[in-house]
Amino acid sequence: HAGCRLVGVGSSVPDAVLTNHDLEEFIDTSDEWISRRTGIRQRHVMGGADSLAGHGAAAASRALEMAEMAGGELDMVILATSSPDDIFGSACQVQASIGATKAVAFDITAACSGFVVGMVTGAQYIRTGMCKHVLVVGADALSRVLDWRDRSTCILFGDGCGAVVLSPSDDDNCSLLGMAMVSDGTGQKSLNAEFQAFNGIKARDGGASSPAAFSNIQMNGQEVFKWAVRGVPKIIEEALEKGGLTSEDIDWLVMHQANMRILSAAAERLGLPQERVVSNLQKYGNTSAASIPLALDEAVRNSSIKSGDVIAMAGFGAGLTMAAAIVKW
Ligand code: ACO
Repeated sequence: HAGCRLVGVGSSVPDAVLTNHDLEEFIDTSDEWISRRTGIRQRHVMGGADSLAGHGAAAASRALEMAEMAGGELDMVILATSSPDDIFGSACQVQASIGATKAVAFDITAACSGFVVGMVTGAQYIRTGMCKHVLVVGADALSRVLDWRDRSTCILFGDGCGAVVLSPSDDDNCSLLGMAMVSDGTGQKSLNAEFQAFNGIKARDGGASSPAAFSNIQMNGQEVFKWAVRGVPKIIEEALEKGGLTSEDIDWLVMHQANMRILSAAAERLGLPQERVVSNLQKYGNTSAASIPLALDEAVRNSSIKSGDVIAMAGFGAGLTMAAAIVKW
């Protein structure tokens, strides 16, 4: 039973930027309100020329380059997303783009916890020996499912992709030290984008046919906020315990970038100074499944995170879902 290591990370975001001031042009909000309540200053958004799989493949290529690995060496491609280009999944598009010809590819949907859930899933295949090299991509374009007239949600989200490569390692060299996941479907109504149009039945009865539709994102912000602030420190502690560690062992907190106040509160409850919190939501907003690998990539490439540092990752969001992993870089 092999342990596993993170051997590469990469990211890709669309070029187009939407600042808080841009939002002021079409909804009743202000840069001051958004920055103070969330920490977000701008976000990147996909346009017609962008695709989720395209940016996912670009992020994957950068992670493979860092790992000094070719796509053809991968055994598995996991794409964590809630906003694929194709409702049947977009992992195979990423697989084709990067030439991962022998890899099996599939999507995982666990909203903003998706990246950590994907990483934990990939690690199990490596542990059992079924796979050697696994690519995990976290990618979302929630701008596609936002109501751009709803100021309580549209200000929060941005689009982007991040990826990591996992490879086997001996136990001394293992970098996935502990993990924990929780799900609570009773909270589904707090944050969702539900299927809503049963147009097929209408068409079978002779009515007009129209495309299937999902609702835009609906969210009870305060409920999600309180649940996250309470739950995130707990799940990180659970993951630490499984790895035989305590919060004193943490060098960096790389949490889902939803709201600066959630990140600060979690650090405080874990007894960690704010300098240990990696945050780039100022530039990208909440990029859902992409936010953790996007923040990790930036912190690794600007040399904040160094080899041997212990990182606590935690994703949380719709489902409701929460997932944490303690990783040695
Ligand atoms: N601009 C200006 N005013 C606004 C805006 C806006 N964009 N949005 C709301 N307001 C107003 C409200 O109408 C309200 O006005 P009132 O006091 O006159 O009624 C006031 O600001 C306060 O609104 P609250 O909702 O109480 O503001 P809060 O401080 O809770 O912040 C926020 C809202 C930022 C959404 C916060 O609750 C939050 O971050 N929640 C967590 C959300 C989250 O992380 N979700 C994503 C999980 S990830 C996933 O799985 C997709």
